[in-house]
Amino acid sequence: MNLIQEPLLKAALATILTLSLAACGSESAALNEQLDSVDEQIDIIESDDTSTVEEDEVVEDGVVEEEVVENADGLNLPATNFDYVSYADTNLPDHFKTGIDTVISQDNTPANNPITNAGATLGRVLFYDKALSINDAISCAGCHQQSTGFSDTAVLSEGFQGGLTGRHSMSLSNNRFYQSGHFFWDERADTLEDQVLMPIQDTTEMGMTLDALVVKLAEISYYPALFTAAFGSAEITSARIAIALAQFNRAMVSYQSPYDVALATATQANDLSHALTVNEEAGRKLFESPPPEGGLGCGGCHKTAVQVTDKAHNIGLDLTTIDAGAGNGEFKVPSLRNVELSPPYMHDGRLATLADVIEHYNSGVQDHPILADALKDPMTGQPNQLNLSDLEKQQLEAFLHTLTDDAFISSELFSDPFVVEES
Ligand code: HEC
Ligand code: HEC
Repeated sequence: MNLIQEPLLKAALATILTLSLAACGSESAALNEQLDSVDEQIDIIESDDTSTVEEDEVVEDGVVEEEVVENADGLNLPATNFDYVSYADTNLPDHFKTGIDTVISQDNTPANNPITNAGATLGRVLFYDKALSINDAISCAGCHQQSTGFSDTAVLSEGFQGGLTGRHSMSLSNNRFYQSGHFFWDERADTLEDQVLMPIQDTTEMGMTLDALVVKLAEISYYPALFTAAFGSAEITSARIAIALAQFNRAMVSYQSPYDVALATATQANDLSHALTVNEEAGRKLFESPPPEGGLGCGGCHKTAVQVTDKAHNIGLDLTTIDAGAGNGEFKVPSLRNVELSPPYMHDGRLATLADVIEHYNSGVQDHPILADALKDPMTGQPNQLNLSDLEKQQLEAFLHTLTDDAFISSELFSDPFVVEES
């Protein structure tokens, strides 16, 4: 477990203090309002004397320890915050930083909200706290479970009163690496800071208002210390809640799958045969290589080592649009990290298994008017028929399984802090 020493809280605060307050260039009024309130929040942090924080610190041998928040109301946090900054920033593997389409080029972290250990720790508590729903019935993790790559195995998820969500829950690994910063299957949230407040207010998901939430959290014993550690004062605002939840979500980077191990130890370009099985490697080439090189071009949309693209696509699930999504039946290209663990698949959870997904691309692509070019035969303009053999289908699936990151889905950094550890 990653229990690396907490870097100086002051350093983390200094990062926040030197934030660029530049506007983000979005047209969305909601976003601007959100950013304004985030900026106001930052102004508040700036005006807070950092000595408040220093009072909470005990400096021993140059190591800063924060006040311990332990076992209050069933909450179980480590004595020293987990080191999210090291996990998600400093220790990112080289293969996230090199190559043509780098993962880090997709980073959507705004200048005014870098990951901090205290911020992500608060985010973790908020993510797992059922108090975020109006009737204490459900937390974010209710529909985003760590064991399934922070998705949910239900086709549609049950909200706070048992009502069903309109779409299938999304896996949350590597949310940080999606450059446009748009979230949801239909990309309706313009930033992660915007997104994290939406489920709270959703009338099916958590049924809360932000005003009521701020009042409610202020009455819970563990929050004053957590907000103080993250922001320098105990004040609770929706902007601070958004900042912390976004930091926790951005820290949820998955980079320790067998595929990563293979990339990290590769000595030759486009050859992972030293670490992957024959079938996995054959599947990888089918997935990543473009058609002229004998591949299927999956990697043209599921780009980079975390399989994302900055654009929604129509992949021909239906002949005519049922759910408009981001446009005319276009949907966000999801990262395929931990995809093995998060059935069912697609925005509406219509496909039960990875074999079904592969069969869709093989023989099921419908001739929708705005079907993505990558899924059309360049000669006829008709939907591609891949004519995959059974072996090739197995190889593709074997490759997708190499994206499962056991360290990530069992990491305490992202686990439920309300579960009392066995001693
Ligand atoms: C009742 C189930 C439910 C709850 C509770 C819930 N979510 Fe979700 N989440 C979903 C569903 C369903 C989607 C996809 C919805 C859509 O695209 O229309 C989603 C999408 C997301 C996404 C978008 C991911 C992407 O790649 O675009 C993020 C981020 C997210 N949720 C975070 C959260 C956070 C943070 C909370 C708690 C504040 C939360 N969710 C609570 C069901 C839930
Ligand atoms: C034109 C871009 C594009 C190409 C090419 C493409 N995909 Fe996708 N993929 C998407 C989009 C968009 C979705 C989500 C669609 C939806 O939910 O409606 C998706 C969804 C998936 C999913 C389900 C993920 C989940 O969490 O539900 C898998 C698995 C997948 N693709 C694998 C592949 C494989 C294997 C190939 C190559 C045979 C491929 N993709 C080619 C764009 C593409």
